[in-house]
Amino acid sequence: MTIKNICCIGAGYVGGPTMAVIAQKCPEINVTVVDINEKRIAAWNDKDVENIPIYEPGLSKVVAEARDRNLFFSTDVDSAIYKADMIFISVNTPTKTYGIGKGMAADLKYIELCARQIARVSKDDKIVVEKSTLPVRTAEALKNILENTGNGVNFQILSNPEFLAEGTAVEDLLDPDRVLIGGDIDTKNGKEAVEALVDIYAHWVAKERILTTNVWSSELSKLTANAFLAQRVSSINAMSELCEKTGADVNEVAKAVGMDSRIGSKFLKSSVGFGGSCFQKDILNLVYIAKSFGLEEVADYWEQVITMNDHQKKRFAANIVKTLFNTVSGKKIAILGWAFKKDTNDTRESAAIYVSDYLLNEQADIVVYDPKVKEEQIYADLDYLNSRAEEENRRRVTVVNDVYKACDEAHAVAVLTEWDEFKELDWQKIYDHMLKPAFLFDGRRLLQKSAIEDIGFQFYAIGN
Ligand code: NAD
Ligand code: UGA
Repeated sequence: MTIKNICCIGAGYVGGPTMAVIAQKCPEINVTVVDINEKRIAAWNDKDVENIPIYEPGLSKVVAEARDRNLFFSTDVDSAIYKADMIFISVNTPTKTYGIGKGMAADLKYIELCARQIARVSKDDKIVVEKSTLPVRTAEALKNILENTGNGVNFQILSNPEFLAEGTAVEDLLDPDRVLIGGDIDTKNGKEAVEALVDIYAHWVAKERILTTNVWSSELSKLTANAFLAQRVSSINAMSELCEKTGADVNEVAKAVGMDSRIGSKFLKSSVGFGGSCFQKDILNLVYIAKSFGLEEVADYWEQVITMNDHQKKRFAANIVKTLFNTVSGKKIAILGWAFKKDTNDTRESAAIYVSDYLLNEQADIVVYDPKVKEEQIYADLDYLNSRAEEENRRRVTVVNDVYKACDEAHAVAVLTEWDEFKELDWQKIYDHMLKPAFLFDGRRLLQKSAIEDIGFQFYAIGN
């Protein structure tokens, strides 16, 4: 089975970069990425490739190479589906905000809409690939919709979860640890569909790194991988609080522990708490699934990862208030970094949002600087929490594009994203222009304690 036309529904952080790399590596395949969000598609098509809607190192170069050759971005979902031999579903699967499973289960309404649209439009056989992160056994529901509302067309459903991390998406896609493909490997048609997708990745990924499994294992492996990664961050963050009480240093502990080859050194960086669109959402989803099977202990075990993460954000913010003589009311606090990690403009579930909200509840005045996040996004993130009137957010929060201006006359500075440029700042100059005593809170262990303290700052760093 040779794939000539691919359609990807969803031009977001996963659909855009993933398809750009497939198009770059498979010039003989036409790849069309579609989305209902017209503004997003217009940005993907912007003449100036630096204006594509997602900031990822190296991405604009890949897009520039393939766009209008065999990579297309469009809002015409129907015709892309109609033409495609293989359709990736890469739409968002957020936590439900209503009804049964509110605050826990994945909201699959966008997935279902895609399935119904595919069923309605398709006139020949198609391979449908789950790229979105989904609860285990979603493929069953998809199959049900496709087969019962279709036009007698045969559909093969594959699970091909994405493991890229933001900020390193292009690197991760070009050189993945593994590619996982789940399919109906016990049937001839299922095997052929799996092989068709293997062939695409085999253009640039070594065959031994392409794993094929049954669909349920693939779906569950994705949730498991995110749960394990998030658990490591919560584990080291739990230790960071103990370090602060005992005089141990969490970086030294992480290094000592991580050098054990059975444990490994990655994902042991203590922080103000993990953010991002997926860790929390996927663990909550896992907890919900476990609960729905009556597995209370399994559910409680994983839920604790989220509890710890919420605690870490809260205690960081509470420590700022406590250190500033138990009140930040009317005080200016500079927030350096709003993105949930460096090298991305994504702010979903960023710790900065929650720390700022906590400080605003304590009546602080906030000034934010982030090299990649736009002002409108920062206000939208705060408004979304509904903690206070939108006008008050605009009155109490200022967004600036000069980091020194952000810190000017501030009572305290909090580093919340590990942007490299924060390491290179003229901290003496920042200190000189702050109110004294000048407090600096490092939520990322980015700065050198001795150098910062020598300048005169009252310095607090996570886990130290
Ligand atoms: P996103 O919100 O950035 O993009 C999803 C896009 O789908 C949006 O632009 C939306 O307009 C579009 N969409 C929704 N319904 C549609 C429909 N019916 N027709 C056409 N377009 C539609 O989300 P994302 O970050 O790309 O995540 C997508 C999925 O991938 C999620 O399930 C997520 O868990 C998973 N994932 C994300 C990452 C990541 O780093 N962001 C990594 C791995 C997996
Ligand atoms: C994560 C996973 O790493 C990807 O494999 C997965 O595909 C993706 O989720 C997803 O499913 O969406 P991402 O959220 O983009 O990727 O970024 P990470 O590098 O995992 O960071 C997540 C959060 O954890 C960030 O806030 C980061 O600052 C924090 N983190 C990470 C730490 O605090 N310490 C660490 O040691 C590592």
